[in-house]
Amino acid sequence: MHIVHSIADLRTALSAYQKPAFVPTMGNLHAGHISLVQQAKPLGDVCVASIFVNRLQFLPHEDFDSYPRTWQADCTALQAAGCDVLFAPREADLYPEPQTVKVQPPPELADILEGQFRPGFFIGVCTVVLKLLNCVFGHAHSGVAVFGKKDYQQLMLIRHMLRQFALPIEAIAGETQRAPDGLALSSRNGYLSPAERAQAVQLGQALRSLGAQALALGDKLDAINLRALDAQSMRLLAQQGWQPDYLTVRRRSDLGTPQAGDALVVLGAARLGNTRLIDNWEI
Ligand code: PAF
Repeated sequence: MHIVHSIADLRTALSAYQKPAFVPTMGNLHAGHISLVQQAKPLGDVCVASIFVNRLQFLPHEDFDSYPRTWQADCTALQAAGCDVLFAPREADLYPEPQTVKVQPPPELADILEGQFRPGFFIGVCTVVLKLLNCVFGHAHSGVAVFGKKDYQQLMLIRHMLRQFALPIEAIAGETQRAPDGLALSSRNGYLSPAERAQAVQLGQALRSLGAQALALGDKLDAINLRALDAQSMRLLAQQGWQPDYLTVRRRSDLGTPQAGDALVVLGAARLGNTRLIDNWEI
């Protein structure tokens, strides 16, 4: 595996390839990330991953400084997964000057759910993703980038951005990987104490149960009934010791409030102790 830090070295390393398959990450790789690399590998003529903890997508009180950085283990895992080129820019490589030009995603998609509780998060995500894509695909005719479905809203916003900026890159969705008890794999699971880890599966269970109740509404599925179900599932999770930000049933196509007959996704975010976890299920 070829490791490069500067944009210039990345471009040199990729100059002979036509169709990169790219997996952007913030490192601290787990089996979820590795499955994205394995999914990407056959889809291009070179498999590229990036590791960059992007300051722009963290609020001042969030965990940018303490975000786990596990460089050696990440390199070993990427190499074993068949990654050909690892792009690991330092901040000065990717942001040599303050990033004053930013992507402003549409509020109706970016200021709801995660965006409501992490204002500016998707500006940071879309900006770094566009920049990483320009670095990786600058010379290429086309390509694919693989994003995990665990960050469901992120995937939707990135697809929207690719479409609107006419980038010749297809965003491929990778299925969420789960621990045997059902907990969605996440770098932030490492923050959980053993007792919290044992309890953490409750978020996914609460979402599954909310989804089942929404489906059971059948023709009576409407905004009022859904609001009541959402509120009830948040109350139940709070009784189990969580601080829920949102648990909600949405339309898959645009994350709006669904009507009977729409394809649904149930999404949630909640804090257990000091750790904020997210999860979702398509139902
Ligand atoms: O999902 C992530 O790990 C990050 O949001 C991403 C896409 C690598 C951008 O920093």
